[in-house]
Amino acid sequence: MQDQPSKKNATAVNIRIVPSARDVARSAARLFTDAAIEAINTRGQFHVALAGGSTPKLLYSMLATDEYNIHWPKVRIYFGDERCVPPDHTDSNYRMACKALLNHVKICPGRIYRIPGEPDPAKAAYAYDATLRKNFTQPDGVLDLVLLGMGDDGHTASLFPHSTALSVTDRWCVANHVESQQVWRVTMTYPILVSARKIAFLVAGSNKADAVNRVLTGEEPIETLPARGILTAADRCTWLLDQASAASLPKKNK
Ligand code: 6PG
Repeated sequence: MQDQPSKKNATAVNIRIVPSARDVARSAARLFTDAAIEAINTRGQFHVALAGGSTPKLLYSMLATDEYNIHWPKVRIYFGDERCVPPDHTDSNYRMACKALLNHVKICPGRIYRIPGEPDPAKAAYAYDATLRKNFTQPDGVLDLVLLGMGDDGHTASLFPHSTALSVTDRWCVANHVESQQVWRVTMTYPILVSARKIAFLVAGSNKADAVNRVLTGEEPIETLPARGILTAADRCTWLLDQASAASLPKKNK
């Protein structure tokens, strides 16, 4: 079982509150670029796991422009999670990232590691775990950067409340059944997510304010608020929040 975060973890988190969702994307683009430059200059490659959902779309479209100086041939793209749909399905995180970013930059297709979520989630998770273990030799992987979003129920990647993936510690990728939506997902698990050199949450919108406050200031277990499980990596984690999603935080956290 993933460790429950301590109060100390929560105080170590780097929280950056900006006016709007566009400002969240802009801050994330800067953080992404800085992480890429550091990784490529130091280790020759930049291994980054993209977040799914809708929030990161703006970030990805910004990164696709010449405004950000990223050496794409040295970038390897992974996905923190995927829906169990074909790559051209409107729900596909891979499709979203390709449309907003990957189709527009000079990245080698062989360096984009899609989670083949259809048609068999368990097989997809097994295959993706093997891909990750081929690319990472350290005990817990160690991605250079993990981008994450958070749902209003406190889920992150496809680590949903009360789901079986929350207790997995011996695999980096699993199939996870989401009771609340009656769907299967494939998701990275806590071990590879919390071992990343840098983690950035991108959260925007007033509908997230309650969950943001509970995750960053409360003490609920990760079973009810899975995003809290990432707080064990608080010293390497930045929460990029717009004012609306930060609205319920106490003044001291602002
Ligand atoms: C997914 C994501 C998921 C997402 C949150 C927030 O596949 O849906 O990985 O964890 O980040 O649900 O989604 P929004 O950005 O759309 O609010």
